[in-house]
Amino acid sequence: MRRTEILDWLREERPGELCRLWKTANRVRRENVGSGVHLRGLIEFSNRCRRSCSYCGIRSPNRKIARYRMCADEIQDCAGAAVRRGFGTVVLQSGEDPELSAEWMADLILGIKAETKLSVTLSLGERTKEELALWRRAGADRYLLRFETSNPRLYKRFHPSLPGRDSDRLALLAVLRTLGYETGSGILVGLPGQTHADLARDIDLFGRLDLDMIGLGPYIPHPDTPLGKSWKECCAPPDRQVPNTEEMTYKVLALARLICPRANIPVTTAVATLNRSAGFELGLSRGANVIMPNVTPMTYRRMYAIYPGKACAFENHDSAGEKLRYRIQNEGRFVGRGRGDSPNYAHRTRSKAVREAVL
Ligand code: 5AD
Repeated sequence: MRRTEILDWLREERPGELCRLWKTANRVRRENVGSGVHLRGLIEFSNRCRRSCSYCGIRSPNRKIARYRMCADEIQDCAGAAVRRGFGTVVLQSGEDPELSAEWMADLILGIKAETKLSVTLSLGERTKEELALWRRAGADRYLLRFETSNPRLYKRFHPSLPGRDSDRLALLAVLRTLGYETGSGILVGLPGQTHADLARDIDLFGRLDLDMIGLGPYIPHPDTPLGKSWKECCAPPDRQVPNTEEMTYKVLALARLICPRANIPVTTAVATLNRSAGFELGLSRGANVIMPNVTPMTYRRMYAIYPGKACAFENHDSAGEKLRYRIQNEGRFVGRGRGDSPNYAHRTRSKAVREAVL
């Protein structure tokens, strides 16, 4: 799909045409990744962060939240709970915790791998090549690092680099690929100042990066962040500003499915936050094939407040588990079994092996 065509879809508002987009995305999803919905147990194990991203509630200058880092035993217990609930993957997510030692993390991964058959996904922000390599050797399978926006001006404005270290997430994504990780990235939809042309470039980039996983959600203003306080001044002219709405998020989700047919694409918590009663269903029927139920203990979960009103923050996850299975089956889908590896990863590593054999 050409970028101009993506742009036309982003600006499309006729219900009949949008219905055609949803149906096509749903068909492409079914033909390429099937009807299983893979569940990933999300463990938000530390909200400590050295960065100052102007949209994010756990940014380092935010003194209004209590900080925590779970100990290895607590995290292992969560992984055990994920196994008991039938999940094939845990996602270990944290802020860019400055005191998280590479060796501690490697031991944790080794521990989970020794005790369970879980696939381990990491989402720990921007880390050095050496750390990423160590964790891969310890057994980590996948890594999530959103590039957030492909517009360098916006990225710089909202995402200050650490002193002396230029933040280059695209370069890091390339490193993750060479280390053999299943690689995921994604964006925020409706950042102040983000235009439809920016968004079309983001979606085009998903395809050029040949992503194995794509995570995206609406930007939700957080009152204790600079952007949450004064977002209106940052907006582009109304006809060019991307709205941070549910519908716009589904458009991006559907287009991501068309551009990366074999990728694993979740309906993220941010989407469920905008529509608690039907967000999962709408996402699943418009291109998504993954849900990431939160398995973090309740006391910590409330402190991992990257944006306000997070859908999972006040629900008891045991009852949510049964309800979720029911909601998935009600959509004519089933809960995926096994690790739910990305068919895209299998495809590209196989093609690489074939190319090398020929050479
Ligand atoms: N609204 C929505 N998503 C957010 N994230 C961070 N802050 C917000 C916000 N205010 C997203 C970022 C990050 C992911 C873990 O959470 O895209 O990569």
